[in-house]
Amino acid sequence: MQSNVRPDDMQRITTPELAGSFIAEQVEKVRQQVGSRNVLLALSGGVDSSVVAALLIKAIGKQLVCVHVNHGLMRKGESEQVLEVFQGVMDANLVYVDAADRFLDKLAGVFEPEQKRKIIGAEFIRVFEEEARKLAGIEFLAQGTIYPDILESGPVKAHHNVGGLPDDMQFELVEPVKLLFKDEVRVVGRALGLPESMVERQPFPGPGLGVRCLGAITRDRLECVRESDAILREEFESAGLSSKVWQYFTVVPDFKSVGVRNDARSYEYPVIIRAVNTVDAMTATIERLDWELLERLANRITHEVPGVNRVTYDLTPKPVGTIEWE
Ligand code: XMP
Repeated sequence: MQSNVRPDDMQRITTPELAGSFIAEQVEKVRQQVGSRNVLLALSGGVDSSVVAALLIKAIGKQLVCVHVNHGLMRKGESEQVLEVFQGVMDANLVYVDAADRFLDKLAGVFEPEQKRKIIGAEFIRVFEEEARKLAGIEFLAQGTIYPDILESGPVKAHHNVGGLPDDMQFELVEPVKLLFKDEVRVVGRALGLPESMVERQPFPGPGLGVRCLGAITRDRLECVRESDAILREEFESAGLSSKVWQYFTVVPDFKSVGVRNDARSYEYPVIIRAVNTVDAMTATIERLDWELLERLANRITHEVPGVNRVTYDLTPKPVGTIEWE
């Protein structure tokens, strides 16, 4: 197995050519490690797991079994994109698990943020484990560990409170990008032919939209988060902001406010927009959004998202606020 220490003289992967030789080298290593045996991978659709999936498909084809768990807290279109790219284009061996109802039932009535995270993490392991047990004879588990995870710098990793698999499920790990930094993983992903929207994807928390639907998650408010987030992403894309701003999303609180719609009083949810820039997620500044863009967002969200009558922009840097609201 590869060491966990990045050699001082390891060249940074900045070009398609360097990515090409990295890929060739890893393909060889993975083939040597795995032989004709099978490998399991939890494929979330995030940059790291997607790049590992594409790399392993190149190395061992159908010996890789990808499991995509849709916990119902994904952004709009995200699970569909995983299916489209990995099943459609790359012809992967992909197990798709629609576990939305299971997660939402477990989360019903739970309003404490850390408790919500724990439930999502534990349920994820349970679903993944059930799928793994169905696939007998798998000896390897692939993971999208990257070098900052090993260094454990920054709060993102510390947030990964998803537990491990049970002790009786012993896998040997396959971690082909564990010595790479995020920007290098992206260069490798592009060289492997992954779409730009996947490679350039902004960070997305493991508990997904669950921590953006504040308090106890309800299906109607979750849809408000998902639909408003989709509009925000669409508008950022057209404004050329999607790869410029570090993280941007919408939040829906668990209270309503009064408004006017069609000459009558409405009593509906507000949507809060957040757009921040940071280097390491320890501190963050606010993106100074163009006023016209903000007005367009407010107009579209209040007219296109059912149940929303108000839009606000969060101006709080970190500190004093955190990036997420929960
Ligand atoms: P905060 O809100 O602490 O967020 O300023 C810092 C970064 O961490 C992400 N985040 C999470 N990531 N699981 C994750 O995988 C989580 O539970 C979690 N909570 C926050 C957040 O999106 C931001 O990028």
